[in-house]
Amino acid sequence: MSTTRKIALITGGSRGLGKEMALRTASIGLDIIITYKNNKAAALEVVKEIQSLGQSAEALQLDTSNTATFEGFIALLLETLKVNFEEEAIDFLVNNAGIGIKSPQGNTEEKVFDELMNVHLKGVFFLTQKILPYMKNGGAIVYISSGLTRFAIPGYSLYASMKGAIEILNKYQALELGARGIRSNVVAPGPIETDFEGGAVRDNKDVNQFISQSNALGRTGIPSDIGGVIAFLCTEEAKWINAQRIEVSGGQNL
Ligand SMILES: NC(=O)c1ccc[n+]([C@@H]2O[C@H](COP(=O)([O-])OP(=O)(O)OC[C@H]3O[C@@H](n4cnc5c(N)ncnc54)[C@H](OP(=O)(O)O)[C@@H]3O)[C@@H](O)[C@H]2O)c1
Repeated sequence: MSTTRKIALITGGSRGLGKEMALRTASIGLDIIITYKNNKAAALEVVKEIQSLGQSAEALQLDTSNTATFEGFIALLLETLKVNFEEEAIDFLVNNAGIGIKSPQGNTEEKVFDELMNVHLKGVFFLTQKILPYMKNGGAIVYISSGLTRFAIPGYSLYASMKGAIEILNKYQALELGARGIRSNVVAPGPIETDFEGGAVRDNKDVNQFISQSNALGRTGIPSDIGGVIAFLCTEEAKWINAQRIEVSGGQNL
């Protein structure tokens, strides 16, 4: 078993922020396992890009909103680690996969509540629980929250509440895992141009302008604004950063 190899598992690595996180983390010498929900072809392209950087990579299917599938996923993860990485555990877990739904409280149906809760809270909680026995001591967890837990934009009460819950979980996780030397941090991106919420930040001129005008740096975010921060949190230099919420928004809604 290799002693120097470090492996990061990044959920939702087929597109958007997760793809950039995977590429940037690979570019500093980590091996990567990404997950995807539907877009296998896109995920395999990311794997190829990582391999062209000289790192090992695999893509596994996972619906992070469906806890019933997690045991099967863990079995697949362990097999992949053994066969493709000659390892039994990962070093870093980045809980990134997610969806955006704008849904004002007044007309939010229970099924939308459940959808957002399953992907952003329940799934993240239990996936992390199930992966922890297969994380190395001294590793780290990164949760992806949102700038919307600090500032409010109408329509995001439910989404932001789920992300807020993750920020609380992060603190407790850091405390509970300290004995194993596992750090836990939150990265909270501001609005970023991805496919998220139908690509609204990227493709809707009005939304893009509204966000840019309330940003200190005068623009919306792009995936490369975020990926390197995740990579940094997976380095030795970040070893004393723990239990933090790090907002990466360019100064949104100050
Ligand atoms: N973009 C923003 O403005 C922004 C701002 C703050 C925080 N965030 C957060 O950043 C994270 C990534 O967002 P993004 O902008 O990169 O979104 P994105 O471009 O829409 O990509 C979403 C990724 O998550 C995966 N995914 C979605 N639902 C999933 C599920 N149920 N199970 C497993 N994987 C699933 C997708 O896989 P497939 O490709 O297979 O569908 C894809 O890889 C999310 O947690 C989001 O809440 C985004």
